[in-house]
Amino acid sequence: MVLSTKEATKTLFYHLETFGCQMNVNDSEYLSGQLEEMGYVMTRDINIADLIILNTCCVRAKVEQKIYSRAGIISKIKKFKPYIIFGICGCMAQKGKEMIKKRVPAVDLIFGPSQITSVQKLLENFKQNKRRKTTILCDNKESFQLASTPIKHQSSITAYLQIMKGCNNFCSYCIVPYVRGPEESRPAEEILLEIESLAQKNFKEIMLLGQNVNSYGYDLNLKTKENFLTLLSKVNNIKNIERIRFITSHPKDFNLDLVKVIEKHPKICEHIHLPLQSGSDTILKKMNRKYNMEQYYNIINNIKEHIPGASISSDIMVGFPGETERDFEETIQALKNIGFDSVYSFIYSNREGTLSPFLGKDVPLETKKKRLWTLLDIQKDIANQKNRYLIGETVEILVESSSKKGIEKQYWGKTRTNKVAVFTYPYQEDLLGRLVNVKIQNADAYTLYGELINGKLK
Ligand code: SAH
Ligand code: SF4
Ligand code: F3S
Repeated sequence: MVLSTKEATKTLFYHLETFGCQMNVNDSEYLSGQLEEMGYVMTRDINIADLIILNTCCVRAKVEQKIYSRAGIISKIKKFKPYIIFGICGCMAQKGKEMIKKRVPAVDLIFGPSQITSVQKLLENFKQNKRRKTTILCDNKESFQLASTPIKHQSSITAYLQIMKGCNNFCSYCIVPYVRGPEESRPAEEILLEIESLAQKNFKEIMLLGQNVNSYGYDLNLKTKENFLTLLSKVNNIKNIERIRFITSHPKDFNLDLVKVIEKHPKICEHIHLPLQSGSDTILKKMNRKYNMEQYYNIINNIKEHIPGASISSDIMVGFPGETERDFEETIQALKNIGFDSVYSFIYSNREGTLSPFLGKDVPLETKKKRLWTLLDIQKDIANQKNRYLIGETVEILVESSSKKGIEKQYWGKTRTNKVAVFTYPYQEDLLGRLVNVKIQNADAYTLYGELINGKLK
């Protein structure tokens, strides 16, 4: 078929919205890489897009509601522009493909997290499909194809890198193991090669991703003897990478050996995200978290003893079925005893198919909300105190973004301990991607404010 010049040169735009965790953000980077290889150009303006994709999450009901409301808006746009291709992918697609098809009849493609790397094939098949029948492909047991998939990183300084997929833990409240499938580790050689190539492209920081990175390698051939600890030390040896981070760690297998590996390797940042979920042993047991408070405190003590100045962040949930006032007070007490640098807190959300709804009486929404506000208030004070303690100290910042502020530039970056720091710098020199020393002058619960120490650019 001969295209007219106009048709042949028409730019095709794609619009991509991402919900959920870093894993999904990374999946969207792979989507962008593949779409741009096909010639699509990214647009933030949904009204000019030829292809619209929602990369979804279903960890809590609220996010699903938001996604359905976005899908409603896109369906309306599609009424006037039926040529638009509309895709819904990711965890919510995996969880409820039939439900999505029913509630969003305008959808053209539904695919799960494991099919992210097949988007080119899916699109080509759909375009050849004259009846434009909805294509559904959700198989969460399909293997990783990341190494051979083009990627467009959202930052040129920090790169996300999935070292494994899936989760075998089945915490009683969580949908993730059902939608992301069983754990599967990527071969270490593949990961290391990719990091070497990122280093050559001038990336400074690598964020290793997995639902439970501590169990990396458990599923690999025993002969390789590769595990998270051996992987970390090999990543540490890669030249030009300045910082290594990882999420998420599970307390059940965060052992002293891992603490020592972090202590020993200078590039591994002294920040640990260690979701506690609850401070009550009764609730932890019902959650199937496989640790109790004594074990959790032990890990915290090990971290504090071996990694001075380490920051610790956490996830905490309120209103798990059957959570009493006393259970909640134990969570608050744990918060005060441990002194987390930051906490992501959530109201428990019933996920159909999980065990938790059968484990206790539903906590009334008002009580859940009250508990969340109490927790947020207390944690804000703790974070504020922790950050203000740093006033007067000089910390290393990796500069990640900038904006103009009068005749100066305002720079934004992170400390090794994962705290956001802001400073201004009057000179023309571009500091993006640089490691600099900043003296902290002020701080609140969320941000450190400082000044660059002249002559100490690294
Ligand atoms: N794999 C990670 C994170 C999983 S999801 C981990 O194990 O920590 C991120 C957070 O969402 C969880 O830590 C938990 O606090 C929260 N979460 C998961 N399921 C939830 C649910 N049903 N309701 C409310 N919060 C939930
Ligand atoms: Fe969900 Fe637990 Fe797996 Fe985290 S470890 S993804 S909370 S089941
Ligand atoms: Fe959501 Fe899936 Fe991540 S359910 S939290 S996007 S693994």
